[in-house]
Amino acid sequence: MSDIARRSALALALAAGIAGSAHAAEPVERPWMDRSLSPDRRADLIVAAMTDDEKFRMIRADFGQVKEKGPNPPGALNGAGFIPAIPRLGLPFLNETDAGLGVTRDGSDHKGAISLPAGLATAASFDPAVAHAGGRMIGGEARGKGYDILLSGGVNLTRDPRNGRNFEYAGEDPVLAGTIVGAAVKGIQERHIVATVKHFAINDLETGRNTLSSDIDPVALRESDLLAFQLAIAKGDPGSVMSSYNRINGTYAGEHDWLLNKVLKQEWGFKGYVMSDWGGVHSGAKAALAGLDQESAGETFDKEVYFDKPLRAALASGEFPKARLDDMVKRIMRTLFAHGILDDAKRDPVAYEADRIVARNALEAGAVLLRNEGGLLPLARKGQSVAIIGGHADKGVLAGGGSSAVADVAGDPVPGLEPTGWPGPVRYHASAPLEFMRKLGGKVSFDPGTDPAAAAKAAAGADVAVVFVTKWAAESFDTPDLALPDNQDALVEAVAKANPKTVVVLETNGPVKMPWLDRVGAVMEAWYPGSGGGEAIARLLYGVTAPSGRLPLSWPKDEAQLPRPAIQGAGLNSKAKPADNVDYNIEGADVGYRWFEKTKREPLFAFGYGLGYTSFAYSDFAVDKDAKGNPVAHVTVKNTGKVAGADVPQIYVTASGAATRRLAGWAKVALKPGASRRVDIPLEPLALARYDDKAGRWHVAAGSYSVKLARSATDVAGEKTVTLGESFPVVKAP
Ligand code: GLC
Repeated sequence: MSDIARRSALALALAAGIAGSAHAAEPVERPWMDRSLSPDRRADLIVAAMTDDEKFRMIRADFGQVKEKGPNPPGALNGAGFIPAIPRLGLPFLNETDAGLGVTRDGSDHKGAISLPAGLATAASFDPAVAHAGGRMIGGEARGKGYDILLSGGVNLTRDPRNGRNFEYAGEDPVLAGTIVGAAVKGIQERHIVATVKHFAINDLETGRNTLSSDIDPVALRESDLLAFQLAIAKGDPGSVMSSYNRINGTYAGEHDWLLNKVLKQEWGFKGYVMSDWGGVHSGAKAALAGLDQESAGETFDKEVYFDKPLRAALASGEFPKARLDDMVKRIMRTLFAHGILDDAKRDPVAYEADRIVARNALEAGAVLLRNEGGLLPLARKGQSVAIIGGHADKGVLAGGGSSAVADVAGDPVPGLEPTGWPGPVRYHASAPLEFMRKLGGKVSFDPGTDPAAAAKAAAGADVAVVFVTKWAAESFDTPDLALPDNQDALVEAVAKANPKTVVVLETNGPVKMPWLDRVGAVMEAWYPGSGGGEAIARLLYGVTAPSGRLPLSWPKDEAQLPRPAIQGAGLNSKAKPADNVDYNIEGADVGYRWFEKTKREPLFAFGYGLGYTSFAYSDFAVDKDAKGNPVAHVTVKNTGKVAGADVPQIYVTASGAATRRLAGWAKVALKPGASRRVDIPLEPLALARYDDKAGRWHVAAGSYSVKLARSATDVAGEKTVTLGESFPVVKAP
């Protein structure tokens, strides 16, 4: 029996057992199950057959995690959301789970899951194929564990390196973030899972997130955060978009007519549905008329279930037209048909160990080598003793906290770390660097790093010291500063003093201050390394594979370099009142490297920066136009070193008269020593364009543009000028 048939039969049996259930009636003809029809047609057919009660059922999802409240409703897994079956129509129950790094709830096999590394790591790979493979992996796990919707696709920009959720996202540049997350969403949905793109929009801080107003000029918003969403949606075709908690210029995202109706649905042609965040609904008719299609977990997190009684009353009074109710349901059903959720799709058992390798590969592609003095790395496979210190490296690797935190199928090797309650628990993935370094290297010792003097002694007794430092971050709070916690700076200083051949591996949510930087030999950012992280770190440190990641965000020297040096109310246990609004007009669309360029500041490490174990030379850089007149850059990349590696030539454009450059394209080029390859890099038209608010369209002004070939946002290797005619790029709706 197919999965759908089984789930419908189960639901029918359960419903029939509920005496007097409205669903006990005989099933009806189901023309909508004809797969030869388009998703739109199938959706129209089923909406036409639905009663109002059935429609109101579909426009809200209940909180799935109901274990605490006694037995789950029939079919509900312990997920984030659940929609009961409608057996009369042959509609099975639907289960939703988080998130963008993997499946966070145990699911039908009652096991944990495999976690990708941080979204920042996947973005740092600068490789959409890595994102796509990661999406396919977590989509496959969601499918195999009984889910239908994966609350993934976080694409909020890194406007502030202290944002507690940066690890879920894809960095500061809209073209990179949109491209990477679009590829991930595409991969997820290839596994017959509905993916989301979230949190729409400009939910770029956690402090006060439920009420904070992100204030920004609408054009600057379009050219930054919304551009990332527009590209992710165009490239990934997500079945759903999740509106965010925050307000935008004073109006809640979940009831923002301009954002949801005008921009997302009318201008971008988005045909899927908008779900709210959990506790992100503040009205019934106002939200529904503004473009919100489904309330999530309102019975648990909203002041009332707005999409039930209040909306039914608005329907009765005529304030909320039936046509809009039908449109809401049609959008949901269309998505379910379009992504195969309601057709037979097998649920293969999860291949956890193969999935762990996918996670390992993602980190190998996205770890960023920031410093490597005197070729300290890679470590020698033989004849070199190594003292590993700190970071629970004998047990595993750190994960970020909150709704995206995956419980590793191999368990948590470091349980009980505070906070154990929300937004904790603080989780580790059972992929221990020590275990894998032992397999690859020679004599490897371990010191917990809790006592700097003892750690220094261990370091002095080895040829090389490798110190793991960690900084936990999580949803719901921002870190007040960029300092490493728990006296780890003192630990690194003591170790580096005892042994100048010191390597520091960072397991962080991104940039941290490193007062000891000049006194250590090497530094590698491993982000939150994921379920294959320990093995990936070992393989990178020993050169089995070479680091090839590039920073997807700017690494400031300190907080004073940021548009907002302080975040009012930041901190896990801060008692300070959060600000009512955040003024993003300070930087506007000039996020990250554009802020640094506009204000003539120099970051510690630039966007796009990263080292490897070999060297690359560029030659014959040229820019010409394709048949459609779009500019394309070309460059020959040569591996001039002695080991294999991958380089990321980047292309930045600056329109004449513009104050800042913008990333318009890049390539990830893997080469054996001595090999070379000529790559063609099409320039993203929207990186050349400005948004013309009066005309309501993107506009590339005629004129000359500087086209820079670069190794990072500040390390320019070549420059050409190209003259372009006026054009009006259109982003094709999927
Ligand atoms: C959370 C998050 C969202 C998540 C949802 C369900 O509060 O903001 O990303 O998908 O609730 O857990």
